[in-house]
Amino acid sequence: MAAVSCRGVTKRYITGSTHVLALRGIDLDARMGELLMLVGPSGCGKTTLISVIAGILDHDEGDCVVFQHDLRNLSQGKKIRFRGKNVGFVFQAYNLLPTLTAAENVAVPLLILGEGRLQAQAKAKEMLSQVGLKDKMNALPNQLSGGQQQRVAIARALVHEPRLIVCDEPTSALDADTGRLVMEGLRHNALSSGRALIIVTHDNRIFDFADRIARMDDGRITLIESQVASA
Ligand SMILES: Nc1ncnc2c1ncn2[C@@H]1O[C@H](COP(=O)(O)OP(=O)(O)OP(=O)(O)O)[C@@H](O)[C@H]1O
Ligand SMILES: [Mg+2]
Repeated sequence: MAAVSCRGVTKRYITGSTHVLALRGIDLDARMGELLMLVGPSGCGKTTLISVIAGILDHDEGDCVVFQHDLRNLSQGKKIRFRGKNVGFVFQAYNLLPTLTAAENVAVPLLILGEGRLQAQAKAKEMLSQVGLKDKMNALPNQLSGGQQQRVAIARALVHEPRLIVCDEPTSALDADTGRLVMEGLRHNALSSGRALIIVTHDNRIFDFADRIARMDDGRITLIESQVASA
């Protein structure tokens, strides 16, 4: 079943008199129980595309349907609630809240969904243990290395068990071994319960975790390859 279905999706950024056509007609599906990777050169539109898919950014033309919802047709409030419940997003720049500890950052999606503080903290700590940060629960983001902050961001995207997990370069700050460990965890966590996982990456060390690899160039999908994932 398709978790995400994009047909003819376009997105133009307008800054003053400058227009950038970042998405030029994207056709792409992401399926439940699948890890889809999105690869392509810098500036080709990867972050733009996953931001549209996650409901963070509105596209211009075409259709983007996520779990049977066309996000453009939802009011801002409904869209935020839909996203809060169904989507986990790992930002390219992590976007951790600087005044909250690692555990508090990870608990945020649960608190937004109305979970009690104690239970949210317990789940956040369990999630941080899974990404190898058991001893960093109470550290603030600026007391963590880049790779540790990246893993906090991954834990935050998974903690509320969303049906769709979207990660923008989740291993960019990680060494090879930690990157593979995080990918194994992500793949296991997401796919064992039939969720959909979309990962943007330049990191060819993790390509073998993908079920399909979509190649993007200049706002278009140029090739989609299927493979037998190694993990
Ligand atoms: N907020 C914005 N305003 C104007 N132009 C933008 C904005 N965000 C992105 N762009 C432009 O849209 C195009 C696609 O950008 P995008 O961030 O989606 O690329 P990307 O594939 O994620 O690149 P990278 O691999 O470097 O992260 C680029 O030409 C970029 O300069
Ligand atoms: Mg990007």
